Amino acid sequence: MRNWAEGVFALVIIVGLGAALFMFSGETLGEGTTDTTAPITVDPDAAVRGEIIAGSTGCLACHTTDGTPGSGPTWRGVAGSSRPLQSDEVVIADDVYLTNSILDPGSQVVVGFDNIMPPDYGDSLTEFEVGDLVEYVKSLAG
Ligand code: HEC
Repeated sequence: MRNWAEGVFALVIIVGLGAALFMFSGETLGEGTTDTTAPITVDPDAAVRGEIIAGSTGCLACHTTDGTPGSGPTWRGVAGSSRPLQSDEVVIADDVYLTNSILDPGSQVVVGFDNIMPPDYGDSLTEFEVGDLVEYVKSLAG
C-alpha cells in the first residue's frame, strides 16, 4: 500500500514538473514573439518619399524630427516606443498605431498634448502617402 501511494506521489510530481516546464517554455516563446525591442524594419525609399510629403503637407509645422516637442510630439524615437494616451492606455507605436495617428488622430491622443491635429488627412493623402509617412516616422526611431 505504501509503495503504491509513493508511486502515485512520484507520478504526480513528474507530471507536474513536466507541465510546469511546458508552460515555462511556452511563455519564453511568447515573450520572443512580442519582443518590443525587435529592430524596426524601414523601407528606405518610402522613408525618403515620406520626408518630402511631411514637408509639403505641413506636418512639420507641429512635429519636429530632432527630439524637441512642438505643438505635437517630436517624431524622434516615437516608433516602437510606449505611448501613454489620455485614455490611460499605454500602447506601443507600431505601424498600426502610427497609421491610425495620421488618419484618426483624435482617437488616440498622447498625454501632454491637445487634440489639435487635423483629422482629415485621410481625405487629402493617398493610402500610399500615409504609408510613406509612417516609414519616415519609423526611420526616426533611433
Ligand atoms: C496642427 C498641428 C499638427 C499637424 C499639422 C500635424 N500633427 Fe500630428 N499630432 C499633433 C498633436 C498635437 C499630436 C498629439 C495628440 C494626438 O495624439 O492626437 C499629434 C500626434 C501625431 C502622431 C502620434 C505621435 C506620438 O507621439 O505618438 C503622429 C504619428 C502624427 N501626429 C503624424 C502626423 C503627420 C504624418 C502629419 C502630417 C500629415 C501631422 N501629424 C500633422 C499635431 C499636429
